[in-house]
Amino acid sequence: MASRRGDPNAPVRTRGRPATSKKHAADSAAPAGTSPAPRVLDTLFEAWRAAGAEYAVEALRNRRHGDLPRWMAALETLPDVRPTEVSLGATVSAGGESLNDTTYEQLHRALRGLIPWRKGPFHLFGIDIDSEWRSDLKWARIVDHLDLDGSRVLDVGSGNGYYGWRMLEAGARSVTGIDPSQLATLQHAAVAHYMDRGAAGIANRNTVLPVRLEDFEAGEPYDVVFSMGVVYHRRDPMAHVQHLVRHTHARTTLVLESLVVDGAPLEPRERYARMRNIWLVPDIGTLCSWLEAVGFGFTQVADVSPTTPREQRSTDWMPFESLRDALDRADPALTIEGYPAPKRAVMIARRP
Ligand SMILES: C[S@@+](CC[C@H](N)C(=O)[O-])C[C@H]1O[C@@H](n2cnc3c(N)ncnc32)[C@H](O)[C@@H]1O
Repeated sequence: MASRRGDPNAPVRTRGRPATSKKHAADSAAPAGTSPAPRVLDTLFEAWRAAGAEYAVEALRNRRHGDLPRWMAALETLPDVRPTEVSLGATVSAGGESLNDTTYEQLHRALRGLIPWRKGPFHLFGIDIDSEWRSDLKWARIVDHLDLDGSRVLDVGSGNGYYGWRMLEAGARSVTGIDPSQLATLQHAAVAHYMDRGAAGIANRNTVLPVRLEDFEAGEPYDVVFSMGVVYHRRDPMAHVQHLVRHTHARTTLVLESLVVDGAPLEPRERYARMRNIWLVPDIGTLCSWLEAVGFGFTQVADVSPTTPREQRSTDWMPFESLRDALDRADPALTIEGYPAPKRAVMIARRP
């Protein structure tokens, strides 16, 4: 089996989060009656330690999301099967071997235990994880504008690491994803579990750490830094961009993807497209000025596209409200709050 030790990513650490406890969260999380081998959480924590991120083990253990024990239990019941085929294509997949009914049911139940799946799609041993987002569509709008060959990548707000697999496909040497969502981290661990077992050296090249950008310190800067779908969630977007720059060197490419509006930036009164946590939706000029202010003077607007219900929708694997419920039924060019419907821009910036 491929080992997740020896992560090629540079050691990472966060400020003010010393590693203390030696007890694994998995020790108390595995449900009675299951004897998975190997223990997925142990493997995950081992990978984080190998990446110098002991603090991530602490972070996962100490944050008390009410659903965490259930998610951890789901992870620990992933069956011990090895794929013969792995794909990092539009549907990230592992499989090849057909499972007997019991094992298929066990895998299905474990993956359903990690609902909602927002980013994807994935396909594991005959199970289609049809996520809320067709993240492959966003990636298709970006990938041809970049050269990731041999690069060390930081993906800020990585979600469950879907794009990390695609970045490896596009030639990245390693990807470090960071995202404070515990569920996204655990979904990544579930997928990586099978990637790891099927293709030597793949899983340890795509890591997702449960940490916020503001708390993340890398040992060395990255060649390509992505922030996709994050900046408008930040109360202080300029501070977000400044934090991104801390992880760059003189030749780093910075990819900033954001909701945008035409005209003046939009500060939603309360919600935007039903989301409470949108502070400011910039126009393209404002995005350029933020990037310029931190020394990224050459900015290419690689794509501007509306977000449609084809790309973001409720599914079996994300059964809650989605984009369609956030648009004005009479006029889908508007959100239900009367703002312009979502559209997104991909900015690719370099230093002059
Ligand atoms: C809208 S999702 C975008 C996910 C993915 N990058 C994409 O483009 O599809 C925003 C993600 O940013 C993460 N996030 C929010 N605040 C963050 C922060 N301070 N540092 C890193 N990630 C953050 C959220 O947990 C969430 O997974």
